Amino acid sequence: MVDPNPRVAGCGLGELQSAGIRIVVGEHEAAARRLNEVFVTYITRRRPFVIVKYAMSLDGKIATPSGASRGLTGQAWQHELHVLRRQMDAILVGVNTVLADDPLLTARLAGDNVRQPLRVVLDSTLRSPLTARMLADTTPGVTMVVTTGRHDPQKAAALRDLGAQVIVLGDTRVDVRALVAMLGEHEVSSLLVEGGGEVIASFVEAGLVDKVIAVIAPVLIGGRTAPTPVAGAGVDDLAQALRLRDVELRRVGDDIVLTGYLCLAAKG
Ligand SMILES: NC(=O)c1ccc[n+]([C@@H]2O[C@H](COP(=O)([O-])OP(=O)(O)OC[C@H]3O[C@@H](n4cnc5c(N)ncnc54)[C@H](OP(=O)(O)O)[C@@H]3O)[C@@H](O)[C@H]2O)c1
Repeated sequence: MVDPNPRVAGCGLGELQSAGIRIVVGEHEAAARRLNEVFVTYITRRRPFVIVKYAMSLDGKIATPSGASRGLTGQAWQHELHVLRRQMDAILVGVNTVLADDPLLTARLAGDNVRQPLRVVLDSTLRSPLTARMLADTTPGVTMVVTTGRHDPQKAAALRDLGAQVIVLGDTRVDVRALVAMLGEHEVSSLLVEGGGEVIASFVEAGLVDKVIAVIAPVLIGGRTAPTPVAGAGVDDLAQALRLRDVELRRVGDDIVLTGYLCLAAKG
């Protein structure tokens, strides 16, 4: 495939050709684009490639009715998740996930100097506890708390004292479109949205999801009030439901991993 970077604009091809190297363009182009999906999105749209990832039980719950979600998936997927996080420039959750799980949001892999993605938390009024593990000195990487005009400036100062970046984007809730554009301006080329359901719904509704990774654990949770992967208003008519394309399934340990792409991101 031709490099979509306008600054390159075929110059690489020309240079190789002038050095006498035979070039074939377009062979397996779809596969080449898939291999370069992050770069192609970033370079052509100046925004990160957005992956939504969630783990759910076989009955479609991402946590128990009381909000517990740890230990849903097996070790083999947990390892893959940390490899995936390491490849990402940023990972994002909502404040309810911080409150429910107190996650570290790091890439935990063997070896020193593991590249850590930027941690991004959507938190309209700064409910994130100052004692959150992701803010601890001992947790590697940088945390960005994205808030709104409704936040308490004293809490923002306390978070900054702990080393967090505090960014204001939006009046009532964090404006995810503005956030994604801002991340693109700061050269964040890939963003992993890890939940929960409210945050995933905002990205879906804004047409900002490029790829979905759904991990299905062979576990039944039950409970009418247990959260599900995509909250928000949903659609009334099945014809309006979003359908993934290029769906692939694989088994990882006892879990099933389904990946697919959303066409709506073309509007994002
Ligand atoms: N199994 C999994 O893969 C997985 C992954 C993550 C979480 N979880 C579970 O999911 C549950 C939490 O999910 P949740 O849906 O209640 O909450 P969430 O998505 O983690 O957080 C939602 C909150 O983020 C804040 N927010 C700010 N701007 C937002 C925006 N533009 N869009 C959406 N939210 C915005 C809002 O609170 P403010 O108005 O206060 O800002 C909102 O209530 C927990 O039980 C957790 O364990 C499971």
